[in-house]
Amino acid sequence: MGFSGKLGFVGGGLMAEALIKGVLQAGLVGADQIVVADPSEARRNLLQSEYKVAVLADAVELWSRCKVVVLAVKPQVVTKVLASCKAHIVDNLLISIAAGIPLALLEKGVQGTGCRVIRVMPNTPAIVLEGASALSCGQGVVEADLAIAKGIFEAVGLTVVVDENYLDAVTGLSGSGPAYVFTFIEALIDAGVKVGLARPVAETLAMQTVLGSVRLAMHEGKHPAELRAMVTSPGGTTIAGLHELERGAFRSVIMDTVEAATKRSAELGKLVLADDNK
Ligand SMILES: NC(=O)c1ccc[n+]([C@@H]2O[C@H](COP(=O)([O-])OP(=O)(O)OC[C@H]3O[C@@H](n4cnc5c(N)ncnc54)[C@H](OP(=O)(O)O)[C@@H]3O)[C@@H](O)[C@H]2O)c1
Repeated sequence: MGFSGKLGFVGGGLMAEALIKGVLQAGLVGADQIVVADPSEARRNLLQSEYKVAVLADAVELWSRCKVVVLAVKPQVVTKVLASCKAHIVDNLLISIAAGIPLALLEKGVQGTGCRVIRVMPNTPAIVLEGASALSCGQGVVEADLAIAKGIFEAVGLTVVVDENYLDAVTGLSGSGPAYVFTFIEALIDAGVKVGLARPVAETLAMQTVLGSVRLAMHEGKHPAELRAMVTSPGGTTIAGLHELERGAFRSVIMDTVEAATKRSAELGKLVLADDNK
């Protein structure tokens, strides 16, 4: 990974677990190099028995033990958690995955400690090591810090580096994206049932069709429009179906969907900042 210190997690929930699984599988760090702080005894026991990592009930001890700390608590407790740890934070690299918590707020929380911050927006497919994560660097972050953060998130999928200004758009596309795709899959299944297929058959076909299409697009490296043209024969079945998608303004709906989620992400970010200034 390019660093010799330990990797800490403040919060040992679902996303932290996905990252722990990923970095261990990728061989980025050993289990003896990971420390997780979580108030939930059940989570601590699970992570300790499943992944053989060290666990703590309180995060304060973590900062002196770990060079890199991933902040994986719910957004609404971030400020409180950083305030309670402040006296113990040193020149750590803090990687926050808390949705909607701006770098400015995170940097305020670690002010005067020498800690650098990288903000990341991952998504739930990270749980199966197929995540899409966007990383934004805060002040004073150096190449080596970014390399460490990229290493961690590449262990659970693909990464892109963007200016923080784009993180609302990232949230609208890949952060909320899995929900759109699940809705599309669900619609395909129901459509299969509508045309007479047994539900389990429709489920298998719908899911494998989405999975296979993604794999094909990534493998071929061709534009989706080209791949679509390849399966659309003149006067055939696919063009008849595609006509209905166009009639239903499918693309326009998808654009509206991502735009609405992006706007909502920006609104929520402003609320977080306004709340902090109260
Ligand atoms: N899930 C996603 O798709 C996704 C995508 C992008 C970003 N994120 C972000 O990832 C973060 C974690 O999400 P998640 O789904 O993993 O949440 P989660 O399962 O609720 O995990 C958060 C964990 O942090 C623990 N915690 C609470 N206060 C703590 C403290 N003071 N010190 C240490 N641990 C503490 C919680 O314990 P208790 O339950 O006992 O409070 C819980 O086990 C969130 O900020 C979320 O916005 C999630």
